[in-house]
Amino acid sequence: MTAALDEEHGQIVASMNALYDAVDCGTSLSFQRLKMHAPESFFRHNCLEEETMMDRDGFIRSRFHKEEHRSLYIALHALETAILADNQGNVLKLLDKLRDVLISHVRIQKVADWHRGCQVPGAAAY
Ligand SMILES: [Fe+2]
Repeated sequence: MTAALDEEHGQIVASMNALYDAVDCGTSLSFQRLKMHAPESFFRHNCLEEETMMDRDGFIRSRFHKEEHRSLYIALHALETAILADNQGNVLKLLDKLRDVLISHVRIQKVADWHRGCQVPGAAAY
C-alpha cells in the first residue's frame, strides 16, 4: 500500500503539472476541468487511504494530518472556482501555491515512510 501511496503522490504532482500546462496554453474550460479531475481524484483517494491507515495503525500526528487534508480540499475547491471564472492568472498562481503546499505536505508528514516502519517487526513508528 505504501508503494501505491508514493506513486500516487508522484501522480498528483504530475497531473497538476499537466493541468498547469493546459491552463497556461489557454485550452478550453471544459478541457481544463477535465484535467482538474485527475489531481483531485488522485488526491481524495490518496487522503482516504492515508486516513484509513492512520486510524488503523495509530499515527501520532493523525489529527494534524487530517486537518491539512481538509485545508487542501478547500484549496482544490478554490482552484476549480478560479478555473470556472476563467481567470488564467489566478489559476496559475493558485496552482503554483497548491503544488508547493502538496509537496510540503507529503515531505513533512511522511505517512508512507511511517507506515513502512510499522510493517517492519521491531521498528519504532514515529
Ligand atoms: Fe496526506
